[in-house]
Order: sequence, then structure tokens, then C-alpha cells
Amino acid sequence: MSGSVVRVAIIGASGYTALESIRWLVRHPQARITYLASRQEQQPVSEMFPELLGRIDLPVRPFDAGAIARAADVALVCLPHLAAMEHVPALLAAGLKVIDLSADYRLGDGALYEKWYKHAHTDKVNLERAVYGLPEFFFDQIQAAQLVANPGCYPTAGILGVAPLVREKLAAADDVIINAASGISGAGRTPSQAHHFPERNEAFEPYAIGSHRHGAEIEKTLSRILGQPMQVIFVPHLVPMDRGILATIYLKALPGSSEQAAVAALERVYANAAFVRVRKGPLPSTKFVANTNFADIAVKLYGGRFIVTVAIDNMVKGASGQAIENMNLMFGLPETTGLL
Ligand SMILES: NC(=O)c1ccc[n+]([C@@H]2O[C@H](COP(=O)([O-])OP(=O)(O)OC[C@H]3O[C@@H](n4cnc5c(N)ncnc54)[C@H](OP(=O)(O)O)[C@@H]3O)[C@@H](O)[C@H]2O)c1
Repeated sequence: MSGSVVRVAIIGASGYTALESIRWLVRHPQARITYLASRQEQQPVSEMFPELLGRIDLPVRPFDAGAIARAADVALVCLPHLAAMEHVPALLAAGLKVIDLSADYRLGDGALYEKWYKHAHTDKVNLERAVYGLPEFFFDQIQAAQLVANPGCYPTAGILGVAPLVREKLAAADDVIINAASGISGAGRTPSQAHHFPERNEAFEPYAIGSHRHGAEIEKTLSRILGQPMQVIFVPHLVPMDRGILATIYLKALPGSSEQAAVAALERVYANAAFVRVRKGPLPSTKFVANTNFADIAVKLYGGRFIVTVAIDNMVKGASGQAIENMNLMFGLPETTGLL
């Protein structure tokens, strides 16, 4: 780290999470982007993303761990899974701190990774020491981490919604249903037929019921937070918006619990969480959190169930904003620096 400015490298510069990270970092008062790595031909990044003209003019360079380590203190790895774990070991070995936005280091367990990602994990040493980057529950570990596994977008919303009421013994641990809908940017920038405009426009639909990898990430992380094995029913949906996730979570209320106690529990658990807003007026909406790092949460008691709703922006609290929040913690900066 040079002076009080964190020097940041972004790997996979042409993708959506890279662009979102750049947008936030050019306004961050204590960070400077010093290296942009991509497989694409060298050019100023503003040629890749015209909206960046006049805001950052850095060239886009090939991946070179040594050169990146000379230029930067931390790397945000904005690559697909598999590609991430091909690059992360070299970055760590070169002395950088790393925040990996892919799923490669989130599950903490090679066998579980292989089961869900159908590929052997090739960097088990770092897999085991990676810290899950959800500051609301792993704040101290993130501060001390060299490698942070930035959470998935659905898991961020789901875990924030489920953990408090189960932990505070207001809701049952064995009856958790998460229905969540995501905007299309959640699928990344790489084009595919399924994400072609005529396929997605005006279409709101579920997908990957029982087979979405984020279900495993939610279960694994909730199990760690709550200290008991957790199983959840997780049903993702795609909604024709650019960005945003809304999770509607159904938890069985335990006898004697009340809506008032549930609201109080959320307020207690998130009292020190800079980016969680417990809403008592209007229910969470993707509109209220779009382009912000906030997670909005509310709870209602209805039909013997706590209905917890959580809204985040998948590109910000669900990806790049949370990565910068983690970066702030790893470098001893206030969590909110550059993010409000
Ligand atoms: N989009 C979201 O809402 C979201 C939320 C949370 C987490 N994530 C995760 O964040 C990561 C990046 O997502 P994204 O939405 O930014 O994806 P994206 O828009 O598809 O961009 C990924 C970038 O990675 C590089 N890349 C692709 N395949 C590669 C390969 N085989 N080897 C090396 N580099 C490769 C490409 O950049 P170059 O051509 O410039 O090298 C590509 O632009 C993914 O792991 C994703 O699961 C995304």
C-alpha cells in the first residue's frame, strides 16, 4: 500500500462486475486503479466502456502476476469460476491481497465444490484459508484476510434474510424457503441465447429449481453462521430488469415469537452493519437499493410464518460494492469509504 491510497488491480476488465468496480473505484477517495488485466487487445479502457471516457484512461493489459504485484496492493478478480482459480494462486504468491468475485473460493470444501461445479478444485490450500466476504457475519476475519471469497448475489440476499431470526430462536431452522428473483445482469456480459433480449424481455420465470449452485453456498454459509447443518429450499427466478434482486423468504415462526420481536432481532443483529437497512415503512424494493451498496430488509408475521423480504442491487451489494466494502476492511479503512 503506498501512503494511504490502496492501489487496485482489476482482472477480467471487460466484464460487468469489472465495469461496476471501476465505476465505484474512480470515485473512491482512498483507492486508485493501477492495473486493468484482460485477454482482449490492449486499449484504453474507455474504448471498451465508452461511459468511462474522461474518468479513467488506463490501458488494458495482459495478465502478468508480477507486473500486477508491482503496480497494485489488491486484485479484484472478476473472472468466471474455473478461470478465477487459475489466476488467484499466482496473485497471492506475488504478495497481493485478493478479492475473488467468482464462486471458486466460497464453499471452503473441495468435495462440495466438485459436487456442485463438476470440476475438481485445483487450489485447495487457498480454498481452505479463504474468508467468506459477508461483512455482516465475518467482519473480523475479513480484516485479517489475504484472500476473500466475495459472496454470490443470491446468497448475499438469502443469508442476510435467514440468519438473524433463526439465530435468535424466533424461527425454525428446518423449514426455510427462499424465493428470489434477479435482474439479467446477474448472468454476466458474455452473450448467450437464453439471455438474448427477445428471450428475456417480458418473461418472468423460475429456473434451476433444486440445482442452482447458490443453494449450496447458502446452506454451507448458514451452517457456519448458525453452527448447525442447514438445508433450504431455494427457488431462483429471472426478471426482465437490468439489475436488482428481491428475495422473499418464508420462515416458520416458533411458538411465542412475534413480529415485534422479529423486527427487534433484525435491528439488534444489524445494529453495527453499515449497509443493512431494516425497513418498517415501505417494504424493500429493488428501486430503493438500485446503484447502492445497501441491503434493505423487512419482516412481517403472516399465517404462522415470518415473511422476510430483502432487496439488493446484484451488481453492488451482490458483487462489486461488497468487494470494495471487503477491500476497505482488509486495508483498515472505514467500511463505507467510497460507497455512500
Ligand atoms: N453479474 C453479477 O451480478 C455477479 C454477482 C456476483 C458474482 N458474480 C461473479 O463475478 C464473476 C464475474 O462476473 P461478470 O458478471 O463480471 O461476468 P462477465 O461479464 O461475463 O465477465 C467476466 C470476464 O472474465 C473474463 N473471462 C471470461 N472467460 C474467461 C476465461 N476462460 N479465462 C480468463 N478470463 C475469462 C472476460 O474478461 P476479459 O475478456 O477482459 O479477459 C470476461 O469479460 C463471475 O464469476 C460471476 O459469477 C457476478
